[in-house]
Amino acid sequence: MNSKTPDLPRPLRRPRRLRRSAAIRGLVRETRLTPDRLVLPIFLIDGENRDEPIDAMPGRSRLSIDNAINECRRAIELGVCAFDVFQATDASLKTPEGKEALNPQNLTCRAVRAIKKALPQACCITDIALDPYSSMGHDGLISPTGVVLNDETVDILAKMAVLHAEAGADIVSPSDMMDGRVRAIRTALDAAGHQDVAILSYTAKYASAFYGPFREALDSAPVDLPNVPKDKKTYQMDPANTREASIEARLDVEEGADILMVKPGLPYLDVIARLRAETDLPIAAYHVSGEYAMIKAAGKMGWLDEDACMRESLTAIARAGADVIFTYAALDYAQWWHESSA
Ligand code: PBG
Repeated sequence: MNSKTPDLPRPLRRPRRLRRSAAIRGLVRETRLTPDRLVLPIFLIDGENRDEPIDAMPGRSRLSIDNAINECRRAIELGVCAFDVFQATDASLKTPEGKEALNPQNLTCRAVRAIKKALPQACCITDIALDPYSSMGHDGLISPTGVVLNDETVDILAKMAVLHAEAGADIVSPSDMMDGRVRAIRTALDAAGHQDVAILSYTAKYASAFYGPFREALDSAPVDLPNVPKDKKTYQMDPANTREASIEARLDVEEGADILMVKPGLPYLDVIARLRAETDLPIAAYHVSGEYAMIKAAGKMGWLDEDACMRESLTAIARAGADVIFTYAALDYAQWWHESSA
């Protein structure tokens, strides 16, 4: 058989023309993820000058408040000015109702006060959910028959939000997935004179297996006891669903959310793009602990270039439509950004 290539017309359009050099690629790049769009999550522990590395999150530690402030200072120097604080509650302070959540002297409130005092330009975001405080490892209260109670939990979350605002939080972020919590939090904040504190709602938070390292960091996984649900599937969303994310988004907008979050990040780019198209509010995405851990682990094995993969993941999340990205790699990313643009 004659295998001569038939005479094809020469291409008129050659997309490769715009990929020929770094300079040209720079001109036509569609997405630029600048460090000012990143939020650095910080894990807190009690005490002084403590830095406990988290096994499943290489490069990240539980920090005492003094060290957390140092980390925030370094981040701000690199252009990362927003922090999401999570407290690792001492086991002795955990109760089934998570009552430490409402202690105005708890680690979160003390940390927010200290960070805002040392670094007034920082944006402090606090997490609203009961799991770091609950001996059950759930985001809400649990009935004797093992039901995660919605409305009773929402009352507590609204009080938590006011406490965090009083401590100086700029943004509160309910990550619990109870129904109606955004409205309850908005109402409570306004009644307490905190109308300027914003709500970043975890709008589409999925019942994901990618949260493992985070639960290790806080020792906050659901406990194995009778009448305690083994997972969070009755409140976090089913990973198979996307229309449901639109329902959650409409509710959050109606209830007064200022920013809508999708979580996790990379496996849910379709959800990020969908919400981006459906609302004019800013969209946030959380590149979660398991996503970070996978890249770090493969990097350690020599199987992937971890820095390049981390940057590609974060850029992809931005490309899909996230304005704000929560990531444990914020410092490394910002460092790279400055070096590459120097
Ligand atoms: C809990 C909360 C979780 C994360 C943020 N807030 C874990 C969970 O829902 O069990 C996960 C973050 C991560 O994995 O990086 N309210």
